[in-house]
Amino acid sequence: TLPLIIAFDGPAASGKGTLASVIAQDYALPMLDTGLIYRAVGYQREKRGLTVDNVPELVEIARTLDATGFDNPELRGREAGEWASQVAAIPQVREALKRFQIDFAHQSAGAVLDGRDIGTVIAPDATVKLFVTARPEVRAHRRWLQLVKSAPDLAYEDVLADIRLRDERDSSRSSAPLTMADDAVLLDTTDLGIEAAIEHARRIVRDRR
Ligand code: C5P
Repeated sequence: TLPLIIAFDGPAASGKGTLASVIAQDYALPMLDTGLIYRAVGYQREKRGLTVDNVPELVEIARTLDATGFDNPELRGREAGEWASQVAAIPQVREALKRFQIDFAHQSAGAVLDGRDIGTVIAPDATVKLFVTARPEVRAHRRWLQLVKSAPDLAYEDVLADIRLRDERDSSRSSAPLTMADDAVLLDTTDLGIEAAIEHARRIVRDRR
């Protein structure tokens, strides 16, 4: 059987990560959250006191990145998302992270990857491509519900502002901007609960594989 490569792309807090995990489980495929890679580089930039202009240092961090530390809860936080999108706009950083992602996608069984440029750059040959989105207000509300558990003072408006800033930066950068691949299936989860979104994603994969 041919390898099954499934690409999930879309903006921040669209639900693509949750859907990707479910599909990876369904098909017993290895899964890679590529946002975590950019988050790890952004986090290292901050911890080492570097700026986005320290390109050679950032490329070195990207080249030598390993998965130890990926379970650091700080990587999932709000600031790390912002730091990630800053370093993700640097073409040399994206280039340094590319080989690992391409190899992960093309392992023998196949794989599920989620990110911004999986269907366009990392695996244009993916078997199934989903572009998962939702209105910014809905994404911000979902993200706020998650974050407020550990940050009770967090305002919804601030989360919405973050989301808008990240959408703008991810969509307007010159290197691998967030765009839907021509052959991707659009899944808009604005009016869908989690169970309904999972059902839609499962059907899309079933019909296309
Ligand atoms: O998906 P997540 O919110 O974890 O991604 C954090 C940031 O990393 C995104 O806002 C985006 O700038 C960047 N990213 C990217 N390409 C990917 C995955 C993430 O540019 N494939």
